[in-house]
Amino acid sequence: MTADRAAPRLPASLGLDRADPALVESVGGGLVKVEDLLRTTVRSDIDFVDEAATHLVRAGGKRFRPLFTLLSAAVSGEITDDVVTAAAAVELVHLATLYHDDVMDEATMRRGEESVNARWDNTIAILTGDFLFAHASGLVADLGTQAARIIAETMRELVTGQMRETVGPLPADDPVVHYLAVIAQKTGSLIATAGRYGGMFSGAPAAHVEALHRFGDLIGTAFQISDDIIDIASPADESGKTPGTDLREGVLTLPMLYALSPEYTGGEPGPRLRELLAAPVTDDDLVDEALTLLRKSPGLEQAVRTLSEYADRARAELADLPECPAREALDMLAHYVVARTR
Ligand code: IPE
Ligand code: IPE
Ligand code: MG
Ligand code: MG
Repeated sequence: MTADRAAPRLPASLGLDRADPALVESVGGGLVKVEDLLRTTVRSDIDFVDEAATHLVRAGGKRFRPLFTLLSAAVSGEITDDVVTAAAAVELVHLATLYHDDVMDEATMRRGEESVNARWDNTIAILTGDFLFAHASGLVADLGTQAARIIAETMRELVTGQMRETVGPLPADDPVVHYLAVIAQKTGSLIATAGRYGGMFSGAPAAHVEALHRFGDLIGTAFQISDDIIDIASPADESGKTPGTDLREGVLTLPMLYALSPEYTGGEPGPRLRELLAAPVTDDDLVDEALTLLRKSPGLEQAVRTLSEYADRARAELADLPECPAREALDMLAHYVVARTR
């Protein structure tokens, strides 16, 4: 007699330990299928391509986006094979953007492992990112023309956000307004599509699909604010990434913008912080100094408040969905996005 396979579980850290056991069982089972599909999809007969393409899949990650797709599907329908395919496709698009993002950010660590650009080089990271985009497109093609159009629009938004971040706000722009628009594009767009796909491929009514889409957009924007707080406040062994990457890239994130704003610092912000943040910070000691000042700044707490407001707005969108364990789990997910910064 063989032992029963362990009951499926959800990723431990995503705040869903109190979710309904039957939901955990079905979503956990769906995640196992997503994992299998991810791993079989990115394989290559060429050993070297295989190694570079599976590097970050093997390294793990939170699987936040596929989890959200599966929970969205469970609100008013079932986790069908198409839902699993959609969840894997969204994770693959995310993964491809990480390969490219680490080139742009010159990041050396990702998911607690060496980044692909650091382990090999930029060329390999860019090409492998393209390889993963190609596989994501292949999966989405199996889901039909509408799904293909949605992911094309999503990628256009995401890339536009990344480009606008790289260029920075124009002189006439309010930097906070610019920041919030950019993160909705670069991160909210794909998480919104994760929710939309979950609704679409579980056969949910249009009104539910739209509510999941809006929830995803807001929770995705919140997710990026929390990521930007974590870049300042959390050590590498928790985030799996090098703290201070945004400072090194000269990207002024929300906690930094607030820390530079007299509105939140009770008068003039410290001249030293202003000096440090005037340009990309490259020296390790200066990065540490800036991180220490930012961690003490009221700007960080203000960013947590804005994050909570986005999470609250996201939760309000759930009112249009039927009361059920999956809706409760989405509510928990919104709490998690705030709690992960603590
Ligand atoms: C990192 O996303 C990039 C952002 C959009 C903030 P995640 O924090 O979901 O990264 P993984 O998938 O867990 O590695
Ligand atoms: C990138 O944002 C978001 C993407 C769309 C890939 P970040 O640069 O903050 O993501 P991390 O911190 O490297 O994961
Ligand atoms: Mg980055
Ligand atoms: Mg980041």
